[in-house]
Amino acid sequence: MYLILLGSPGTGKGTQANILADRFSWLHVSTGDMLREAVTAGTELGKAAKSYMDQGALVPDNVVIGMLVERINRPDAEAGFVLDGFPRNLAQAIALDEALRQQGKSIDVVLNIVVPEEDLLKRLTGRWLCPNCGEIYHSQSRPPKQAGVCDKCGTQLIQRDDDKPETVKARLEKQRTPDNLLAHFRDQKKLKDVDGQQAVDKVTADLLGAIEGSK
Ligand code: AP5
Repeated sequence: MYLILLGSPGTGKGTQANILADRFSWLHVSTGDMLREAVTAGTELGKAAKSYMDQGALVPDNVVIGMLVERINRPDAEAGFVLDGFPRNLAQAIALDEALRQQGKSIDVVLNIVVPEEDLLKRLTGRWLCPNCGEIYHSQSRPPKQAGVCDKCGTQLIQRDDDKPETVKARLEKQRTPDNLLAHFRDQKKLKDVDGQQAVDKVTADLLGAIEGSK
């Protein structure tokens, strides 16, 4: 199964992608994680991306598309993947369709997680992450058992640079899912909305129902 999770920053794409990827042994492809790794490693790609990410803007398509296509062309993507954070616009969606078409594949289902914008600022400024295993927490809605420590692997949790309130506001303003991207997948009859303003396990249950219904 080849699946896309869409949604504004903070709607829960990463949280749900982790759960689905674990459950079905799919590859979890997060363009945000890939870009942050490139920034930390100081690669040319990371240098090109950093200033956009710091401003809460999208990184240009010519940087992101090649990176994503190279990743999904590797053998470990063959059995299935869940895309988290890609595509963000119509040009990226068209490039993805074309890359998959060349391999005789196509996206099976696109799940759009919907959360009212007023909740997203709270979600992002309260987020804590495990830099080792990628588990995602929230200081109020999903706290770790021991403050500041990952339940799964015991690593010290961190906050993302772009989760500062001023950067979050810019991200929410600049990174709403564009209508023409939703229309693209609606025309392909692949788009399903899922209510993301429920408990994490309820959102997962709705995503699983939508995946099942798309088979
Ligand atoms: P990226 O890392 O993809 O950031 P994002 O899209 O802003 O999404 P987030 O990771 O912030 O949120 P999420 O939806 O994954 O929510 P999460 O599960 O963590 O991208 C970072 C940057 O890279 C972008 O700003 C851009 O510059 C660049 N970039 C990436 N992809 C790009 C592309 N394709 N093109 C161009 N540029 C690109 O949850 C958030 C919080 O809410 C957590 O604390 C979590 O515990 C909590 N939470 C989750 N679910 C629930 C729930 N049901 N109830 C209550 N709390 C919940």
